Amino acid sequence: MDPVRNPFAPGAGTRPPELAGRDDLIERAEIALDRIARGRQARSFILYGLRGTGKTVLLGKIRQDAEARGLHAVRIEAPEGRSLPAMLAAPLRALLLKLDRLEATKKGAQRALRALASFAKLKVSYSDIEVTLDVEPEKGVADSGDLEVDLTELLLAVGEAAKERDTAAILAIDEIQYVKESEMAALIAALHAVAQAQLPVTMVAAGLPQLLGQMGRAKSYAERLFEYVEVARLDAGAARNAIVLPIEREDEEIERDAVEAILKATQGYPYFLQEWGKHAWDLAFGSPITLQDVENATVTAVAELDASFFRVRFDRLTPTEKRYVRAMAELGAGPHRSGDIAELLGKQVTQLAPIRNSLIKKGMLYSPAHGDTAFTVPMFDEFMRRIMPELV
Ligand SMILES: Nc1ncnc2c1ncn2[C@@H]1O[C@H](COP(=O)(O)OP(=O)(O)O)[C@@H](O)[C@H]1O
Ligand SMILES: [Mg+2]
Repeated sequence: MDPVRNPFAPGAGTRPPELAGRDDLIERAEIALDRIARGRQARSFILYGLRGTGKTVLLGKIRQDAEARGLHAVRIEAPEGRSLPAMLAAPLRALLLKLDRLEATKKGAQRALRALASFAKLKVSYSDIEVTLDVEPEKGVADSGDLEVDLTELLLAVGEAAKERDTAAILAIDEIQYVKESEMAALIAALHAVAQAQLPVTMVAAGLPQLLGQMGRAKSYAERLFEYVEVARLDAGAARNAIVLPIEREDEEIERDAVEAILKATQGYPYFLQEWGKHAWDLAFGSPITLQDVENATVTAVAELDASFFRVRFDRLTPTEKRYVRAMAELGAGPHRSGDIAELLGKQVTQLAPIRNSLIKKGMLYSPAHGDTAFTVPMFDEFMRRIMPELV
């Protein structure tokens, strides 16, 4: 059918035509935002889940909802290898300039900008800090050289500036699993201090399941400070809505067995639903979309995923990592016992531990329970068997 009218939207962080199955989660976030907007406390939200489940989209939605309530949200992405102070500095500067413009007579934002200028002196230890500030650093604030102390003072200053203006600062941090544990500890401590001072700074973060362990190890009280929310695949009803509603809004139809075939092929994973929906629409000659169209779509959708979604992750692996992951794939979808993987590779678990750790750090694998290993990318086992037919 007409590709111009194709409603489906596969892509990282792309708003779907129907944000299906997330009403409860969005409502919880909205309650938290409403509380914050009224100057009450709310725990920071941490969204965790596998790749392609819709975390980035939800983070964007929560940010939008925050702005709609007059709160000030900044988007912060944690790219692999970037230091926490470096990734916070520029967004915080933008946020503070916005607060300053809002009510320039109040001095808190200028003071926080000076604290940020002090904070930026951490450049000695974190050389990737790039922000430039045309204010004088605030002496004695956020300039100790210790990340935990300085970040705490900086966020307290941000909180004061927001409070003066009867608003709140929301830090929306994506891919937070890439933040190093020592830096995560500083962030958690800073948020803790801000919460204790009852200042309006909250974090909403998203990342892979390993962030649960990382945060707990960084600070044992992280569990009480944050509200962890799993972003899982969609149940059958929500997955049906994700496919059927966008089609019906275009005044087109899809046959029931065609919908069921999409549910089966995608297992309800949001990214895959968008990919299958898009291909089924494009391949269908007309309405309704049939089972045959979906079967054809499976071929082209898989080819597209193999060339992009799966491929970019595969390309980041070393040859030994590929072999480890291929051995896992031999055992199926997982999770798998580390011992079983080692046995298949003819090695000791301890010998393979560095490879496994590196794969976890890269965001390829995670450990759902002690001694277990699983893929962070759904259906990666099938891809591995396609791209490396033999375990050699
Ligand atoms: N609730 C949902 N219903 C339907 N499609 C969704 C939903 N959430 C996300 N998607 C789609 O899934 C894909 C991946 O979303 P994204 O937020 O990038 O996932 P993640 O950040 O978890 O990897 C996007 O194409 C998006 O449009
Ligand atoms: Mg994402």
